Amino acid sequence: MSFDIVVLPGDGIGPEVTRAAVAVLQAVGRRFGQGFRFDTQLIGGAAIDAVGEPLPAATLDACRRADAILLGAVGGPKWSDPSSRVRPEQGLLALRQQLGLYANLRPVRPHPVALGASPVKPHLLTGVDLLVVRELTGGLYFGEKKRHADRASDLCEYSVLEIERVLRRAFGFARARRGRLASVDKANVLETSRLWRETAIRLGRDEFPDVALEHHLVDSMAMYLISRPRDFDVVVTENLFGDILTDEASLLAGSLGLLPSASLGDGTRGLYEPIHGSAPDIAGRGIANPYATVLSAALLLRHSLGLQDEALAVELAVACALDAGQLTADLAAPGQAIGTQAATQAVLDHLEARCQVPELRD
Ligand code: NAD
Ligand code: IPM
Ligand code: MN
Repeated sequence: MSFDIVVLPGDGIGPEVTRAAVAVLQAVGRRFGQGFRFDTQLIGGAAIDAVGEPLPAATLDACRRADAILLGAVGGPKWSDPSSRVRPEQGLLALRQQLGLYANLRPVRPHPVALGASPVKPHLLTGVDLLVVRELTGGLYFGEKKRHADRASDLCEYSVLEIERVLRRAFGFARARRGRLASVDKANVLETSRLWRETAIRLGRDEFPDVALEHHLVDSMAMYLISRPRDFDVVVTENLFGDILTDEASLLAGSLGLLPSASLGDGTRGLYEPIHGSAPDIAGRGIANPYATVLSAALLLRHSLGLQDEALAVELAVACALDAGQLTADLAAPGQAIGTQAATQAVLDHLEARCQVPELRD
């Protein structure tokens, strides 16, 4: 089969980590006889510098025609002046909204390497297997913004339809996994959260009575994620809460550099990106961890292209690299780190060798 993939390297470490993921996809194509056509386009600060806007029409058009999109990261100090008219992040938000990608999947499954790298105590981490479903096209991010000389506001708005569609996805994933869904809100304070909770209760009762639904307030959930992460299966929440909780959850895996994501809408086209940003503090030094982006490419193979064996092969290759201690500076012991290119080569070698690890075997 032949597939069209748009590549959006973006800013900072974005180009470094997308290069790694594209190399892995090319190797997957060779091994499994799949044809991937890559079309690299501008987004974010790189697009502002080149054409004056963060999401050029040519990029959006290419994304609309593609089977899937792979993105590195956008943003950085060069474009972060609070008074700027355009910002790199607007490009990413517009892309998510224009493509209707309302469900952002952020799986968190610590590899044993996390036991050494995470600040969380090892006995809390074994057996953790979370899927956070973050609503991605509503809430504070997209509500009306106002700015006056002496005040500013961001409107937080959700319709029942917006809440229902992301909850249905989350309930569906919970049904296919361990049958448990934790819905996270701030219903003790926010009207949008009360609507969210009512909707979750109604859908649970009417459509998913087989899924055990529980509710948590976001502040205590932030604490439970660290104190008892094993107790959760699928976690669903609104846009901003999901953004914050998943950077926190990355510590369960040991590093932000390990967490992939898939952003999905109603069709199969999706946007795949690591949950981390452009990491300006390490950009251009060849030391960024490429595994989150490589694992995002695995999600791309699975969710947009329907290539299950290929996705698993990539996940196995990354697991083998972690098993072998082939770690970048965010995970390695002092003096033991390898660079982005060596980490990429490690994945390519394990892919070629058809490496297997016990916990990921079929
Ligand atoms: P960040 O995620 O870029 O970095 C946070 C910390 O994690 C830094 O110390 C960084 O070095 C480290 N880190 C992140 N990814 C890493 C990797 N792959 N390997 C090793 N270390 C890694 O967050 P930030 O510094 O708050 O934001 C920087 C810029 O990125 C901002 O402009 C922000 O808007 C943008 N951002 C973009 C995205 C995206 O494009 N999806 C996501 C988050 C932040
Ligand atoms: C993420 C990022 C983005 C978000 C920013 C860059 C707009 O933090 O993908 O997690 O907040 O959604
Ligand atoms: Mn984020």
